[in-house]
Amino acid sequence: MEFEQDKRLARVLISEEEIKKRVSEAGRRISEEYKDKPLVMICILKGSFVFASDLCRAVDIPCRIEFMRVRSYYEGTQSSGSVDILLDTDNDLSGSHVLVVEDIVDSGRTLCRLTELLRKRNPLSLRTITLLDKPSRRAEEFHTDISLFSIPDLFVVGYGLDYNEMYRNLPYIAVYEEVR
Ligand code: IMP
Ligand code: MG
Repeated sequence: MEFEQDKRLARVLISEEEIKKRVSEAGRRISEEYKDKPLVMICILKGSFVFASDLCRAVDIPCRIEFMRVRSYYEGTQSSGSVDILLDTDNDLSGSHVLVVEDIVDSGRTLCRLTELLRKRNPLSLRTITLLDKPSRRAEEFHTDISLFSIPDLFVVGYGLDYNEMYRNLPYIAVYEEVR
């Protein structure tokens, strides 16, 4: 495969098998915790489209799927960033238990802002699940309810995550490094 010749992909950090195992465990957990509850999973585009599509098929209870696309703006190192909503959910969230599905939590700003905003829509509950978490990079205190993998401060691509819009279709998570 051509990815194998790409020197910018320094190494595989998390294999397809490891991802599969954790996603199916998470699916089972969600299916138990939200049994008989109206569940809406919100896939945050673009990064979480692969994770969300595998996760929702690992969940075996009825649920709705919504999509949002957000862009975060930060002013320097100040934590007073804001998010622009580029695509919003189609349906009302009040009366539903909302689970936000994100690819990675880095500074924590995106999910901080987004959960603030979603809370105002009065869901029955609001929780977050993230595929990857980089706790050492946190600029704002943010705790994800479910995190599949905690990783060190590395730039990673694959399984939905990109570098300049590329590598999203890589079936595993790889460490990306500039080639000098
Ligand atoms: P936060 O607001 O800093 O938590 O931003 C999280 C967003 O930054 C994610 O949704 C990703 O789009 C992006 N991001 C952070 N770290 C990485 C990475 O290692 N690879 C690819 N995208 C990343
Ligand atoms: Mg993202």
